[in-house]
Amino acid sequence: MFETLKPRPADGILTLMQLFKDDPRPTKIDLGVGVYKDATGLTPVMRAVKSAEEQLWQTQDSKVYTSLAGDPAFSDAMIQLVLGGHVPRETISAVATPGGTGAVRQAFELVQMANPDARVFVSDPTWPNHLSILSYLGIEAVPYRYFDADSRGVDVDGMMQDLAAVRRGDVVLLHGCCHNPTGANLTMTDWQAVVDLLLSSGAVPMIDIAYQGFGEGLEEDAEATRLVASSVPECLIAASCSKNFGIYRERTGLLMAISQEAEARKLNQETLAFLNRQNFSFPPDHGARLVTMILNDDALRADWETELNDVRESMLGLRHELASELQRLSGSDRFGFLAQHRGMFSRLGTTPEKVAEMREQHGIYMVADSRMNIAGLNRETVPLLAKAIIDVGI
Ligand code: LMR
Repeated sequence: MFETLKPRPADGILTLMQLFKDDPRPTKIDLGVGVYKDATGLTPVMRAVKSAEEQLWQTQDSKVYTSLAGDPAFSDAMIQLVLGGHVPRETISAVATPGGTGAVRQAFELVQMANPDARVFVSDPTWPNHLSILSYLGIEAVPYRYFDADSRGVDVDGMMQDLAAVRRGDVVLLHGCCHNPTGANLTMTDWQAVVDLLLSSGAVPMIDIAYQGFGEGLEEDAEATRLVASSVPECLIAASCSKNFGIYRERTGLLMAISQEAEARKLNQETLAFLNRQNFSFPPDHGARLVTMILNDDALRADWETELNDVRESMLGLRHELASELQRLSGSDRFGFLAQHRGMFSRLGTTPEKVAEMREQHGIYMVADSRMNIAGLNRETVPLLAKAIIDVGI
């Protein structure tokens, strides 16, 4: 029977990971998949995570199931981290999910159950897996302009014009911070305009926040999410712990559904628990427990925040070094946007052909849309990348 299956289109990011692995050149540089790497190329286990794991090993005396929604202490801790008390706790339903992707998937399913005709407005571009999951679920994705190819910033006018088409019953998917794949982000004034549009249209925002702490700081990166969530009557938030806690493979995320209506809130909570049960039953607990321990313990939290801040500053430093090296080599300011972008990624804004040339001639791996993982660089490779960019004529 399985011969009837149809081949699936390969995921561009995962295919690139394999291509990089298979490349024998010792000088190759991986700017592909979005994982943080230190100066030695290692994706380290964070100190606070190690300490929490040690404590957990000493004290955990059972691994019996938690609940379909996960451990309520994890939800509370994450809600506080993301929303910082800006939204009343009693208006928030929440379930733990396998990673941020799990939260995105459950959110889309919730939307579809609530309104089978819902359209989801997505930035053009967005994380490719958003589009893939929407298409798999048969939900219509409507792109809105986002990236300005000339300035490599946000095309705010184009975005607002396209979003004027949203209707009540639609969802607007927004990246809370550190836009993936562009690195270009809205200002708080832009966010306020988005809020006004949401309020006048009655569309529901869905915020994907996967890089809190990677842009300007933990609090600063949550500011837009807090503004939206505290301004509108209903909101979905998919939060990931993969990057900011460095626990990628533990699959740790939280989906929050905010509603001012008590009945809707109850239904959200029940439906999200139902969806967990249908899709994987109980959510993974190990990563969630580590996150809860870290967020609730002063010493662990302080250590985590310090390390996260170092990670953020090192990426920021690399951005500035790359922008200034490119300025030196090109004699122009046309790469200044690299220092303005925030988070792990920057979209260089070149063609797939040039991206392929960089890979083939220089062993530099970036996603075909010219997204670069800045954390894949180090002080030695910044000049090599800059030279390659100029050599291929970008
Ligand atoms: C990325 O965008 O590279 C990450 O979110 C990893 C992934 O799963 O695609």
